[in-house]
Amino acid sequence: MTRSFNPVFASLPTTIFTVMSGLSVEHGAINLGQGFPDNEGPDDVRARAADALMAGSNQYPPMLGLPELRQAVADHYRRFHGLELDWKSQVLVTSGATEALAAAIMALVAPGDEAVLLEPAYDCYAPQVRAVGGTPRFVRLEPPQRRITTEALEAVTGPKTKLIVFNNPQNPAARVYSPEELKVLADWCVRHDVVAVCDEVWEHLVFDGRRHTPLMSLAGMAERCVKIGSAGKIFSLTGWKVGFVCAAPELAAIVGKAHQFLTFTTAPNLQTGVAYGLGKADSYFQDMRAYYARSRDRLTDGLKAEGFAVIPSEGTYFVNVDLAASGLNIDDAAFCLRAVKEAGVAAIPVSAFYESDPVRNVVRLCFAKRDQTIDAGIERLAKARRLF
Ligand SMILES: Cc1ncc(COP(=O)(O)O)c(C=O)c1O
Repeated sequence: MTRSFNPVFASLPTTIFTVMSGLSVEHGAINLGQGFPDNEGPDDVRARAADALMAGSNQYPPMLGLPELRQAVADHYRRFHGLELDWKSQVLVTSGATEALAAAIMALVAPGDEAVLLEPAYDCYAPQVRAVGGTPRFVRLEPPQRRITTEALEAVTGPKTKLIVFNNPQNPAARVYSPEELKVLADWCVRHDVVAVCDEVWEHLVFDGRRHTPLMSLAGMAERCVKIGSAGKIFSLTGWKVGFVCAAPELAAIVGKAHQFLTFTTAPNLQTGVAYGLGKADSYFQDMRAYYARSRDRLTDGLKAEGFAVIPSEGTYFVNVDLAASGLNIDDAAFCLRAVKEAGVAAIPVSAFYESDPVRNVVRLCFAKRDQTIDAGIERLAKARRLF
């Protein structure tokens, strides 16, 4: 007897991050593939969560999140972006940004609706849209600039267009969109009455004096944005999987209904730790950015010295290397496979972020690592280069 499963998931390969991390362990490689820091995160935030685990309640917290965390999220975004959010009707807590994305897409996309995705796209968006009977419509952002244009958006717009998933700062391209592009996007959303699910998990990881602008803060967008954040990225604690959703009351309410049957709630002690962390002084956020900017520069400079063409990273934990411009006429996936097996360094092929006709000459590297790991990674990438 052959069983049939939901084709959306049955046809999916294991994510490239899991594949590369597995090969990395198998070959004892330096893992510059999957995006997680190799520091432990702030002591005080972890201590607060540890105390809450022992002294606080470990029973189901409220479905929408602990009030102290929902208030902390609203206060945080008022402090950093001047957003005015009513924590009771506009903020809810999720188990990571991944759950927030799933809840938002489940709640907003009905069977037959279309959702616009910008490629390269983070890998969970398309399956999440398809799982609820929606159809992804892809807009390809052409390298090297990868700019959003009205023409490209209009080309995929129709009567069924319901939402767009907008990731800014962008993983894997490590781009921070310009004010002009945000305006193009906001105008298009308003013109076609489209809701923007804004994946802003990298909001605090922007470099060289850049400032993150939530799409929600643009004219006409407060009532049509679902803004998603992740404590994992803000506090270098990716295993915590604490996310948050901010939206107009009508949107927050429907996302909450999907969330109640996905995970219902999130570990209470971690929520307490994140509530404390979001209130930390501005200097924490500045220092964290400076720390990662230094790592970005170390990896970028080291790679350049070895003859790699590095595409400048404006934000996130990642840099991209253009293999073709580095004189390597080789497919990104082939480069990554040989690099992990024969040179002992794991990277991510950017072609994995495309559904069809991918860009095949770019690999993504994570710089959120200790200096010695970055230096060893550079050495091994130089070795990988010599294999071709
Ligand atoms: C663009 C983007 N969205 C969502 C996530 C997932 O966030 P979380 O770990 O909070 O689920 C990531 C993690 O790397 C990401 O890069």
